[in-house]
Amino acid sequence: MTGDYNNTIQFILDNKIITVDFNKERLKPTTTLLNYLRSLPNHKGVKEGCAEGDCGACTVVLAEQQNGKIIYKAVNSCLVFLPMIHGKQVITVENLAERDGKEVELHPVQVALIESDGTQCGFCTPGVVMSLFGLYKNSKNPDRAEVEEYLGGNLCRCTGYQPILNAGISLPKDEGDLFTENEEHILELYKEIRGNYKNISIEAFNQKYFQPTEVDDALQILEDNPDAIVISGSTDIALKQTKKFELLETLIDLSAIDSLKKFSETDSEFILGAGMTLESIKTELHSKLPVFNEMLKIFASKQIRNLATLGGNIASASPISDTLPLLFALNAKLRLVAKAGEREITIQNFITGYRKTDLGKNEIIKAIIIPKQKQNVTTKFYKVSKRKDVDISSVSAGLTIELQNGIIKNIILAFGGMAETTRRAEKTEEFLINKNWTEDSVEKAMVILREEFTPITDARAGEEYRRNVAANLLMKLYFETKI
Ligand SMILES: Cc1cc2nc3c(=O)[nH]c(=O)nc-3n(C[C@H](O)[C@H](O)[C@H](O)COP(=O)(O)OP(=O)(O)OC[C@H]3O[C@@H](n4cnc5c(N)ncnc54)[C@H](O)[C@@H]3O)c2cc1C
Ligand code: FES
Ligand code: FES
Repeated sequence: MTGDYNNTIQFILDNKIITVDFNKERLKPTTTLLNYLRSLPNHKGVKEGCAEGDCGACTVVLAEQQNGKIIYKAVNSCLVFLPMIHGKQVITVENLAERDGKEVELHPVQVALIESDGTQCGFCTPGVVMSLFGLYKNSKNPDRAEVEEYLGGNLCRCTGYQPILNAGISLPKDEGDLFTENEEHILELYKEIRGNYKNISIEAFNQKYFQPTEVDDALQILEDNPDAIVISGSTDIALKQTKKFELLETLIDLSAIDSLKKFSETDSEFILGAGMTLESIKTELHSKLPVFNEMLKIFASKQIRNLATLGGNIASASPISDTLPLLFALNAKLRLVAKAGEREITIQNFITGYRKTDLGKNEIIKAIIIPKQKQNVTTKFYKVSKRKDVDISSVSAGLTIELQNGIIKNIILAFGGMAETTRRAEKTEEFLINKNWTEDSVEKAMVILREEFTPITDARAGEEYRRNVAANLLMKLYFETKI
């Protein structure tokens, strides 16, 4: 598909198919959905606050087809490149109320926000409304915890959160709003778009953007464009443009490859497609591997998790990634694929340095393989950050312990925020192996652990603080697992 540019995408907005030809409309392929919507006369409700996924002012809902049903996901439109919405429906705050001539009937989420006095200056309100709409479409009877989860990515500077939370708690059940009534029509439009275009390739304004639907096509494009940047959710890469103003010359967007979004399991392993979003992993693993959900509950916000993928988090190789310490602790492996074939590598060998990995230029991550644990093995994840929601870790830890009659048979102590990469406390592990799992052993191990790392001092935390936190997390593990 290289060289054969169609330069065009189609999506649904205002209940009709919109066709965008990037050359004719003089749009960069990396135009964000936020900027596109704000360029339209009737969709300026969506706001830009931070342009980096932190404030939620730009929240819109993307509706897409999954197994014949429509699912609704709130996302940060500031992080979405326009071609990523190909084949989807975009719902903005302007679409919620029903209009009949001069008569306007507000959507139940809008009514709830008004009735709970949940808006003052109104800057955050369109984003809050769209997060509440995401909640309304996905939850039948939300409790306070669920409302907080859906609103965790929305900042409000003036109203105060209580009235906004009250609006969420008071939402009526979705017993069929105008979107439910319209689903058949929307499903028809999805079908029409799929019949028109499959793979997307755009060349405009010194940028190339490819959106293949098969892994083999993605690998061929990568071979032909070895300097291309691969994206999945774009929650990391979009910031290069929105914050660093870099020109992203060639992008290969994997977000339309369904085979990368599959989950499966065998007797001994969970296999997660690298393109699974963190929210879809939450759905799959919530009862199968609860520790993964403990980590995801405090990972960014709902809007980010609806876009961000596990493969993207791993490939970023950030020293403060939250998934990496846990994947280290779970002994995860990665399946990488290139045109020449597949290979597997342990997560530890994959991370080679500060934001460096063993990924070849012609490879992508295909899947993440997590071995199922034995009964006597426990894994915990801890994250210490300044705020609970939407914050980067000061220190995070993925800790695994295997006990036999109170003796430590195996232990993995993996930390984020303590070195230039996710790193295991190998000396401490060595000290603890075959010792009794007692407070005394742990206190001795904490001394070794404090000395084992030389963390940096930065805006998030000081060196000494990080050492103490890491050591204290080991003690926390002890108290949570002692027999
Ligand atoms: C507001 C905000 C909050 C955040 N909070 C957290 C947090 O709490 N914890 C945390 O750990 N991170 C956090 N992040 C970081 C980010 O969301 C994650 O790193 C995310 O998981 C990246 O996934 P993505 O699919 O969006 O990656 P992308 O941005 O698409 O890509 C990221 C990198 O991965 C590569 N890549 C993507 N997919 C593949 C693949 N299949 N094969 C090979 N390479 C690939 C890309 O080339 C790129 O180098 C936050 C980010 C934002 C903006
Ligand atoms: S503008 Fe702040 S999250 Fe998008
Ligand atoms: S109502 Fe003013 S920022 Fe929320």
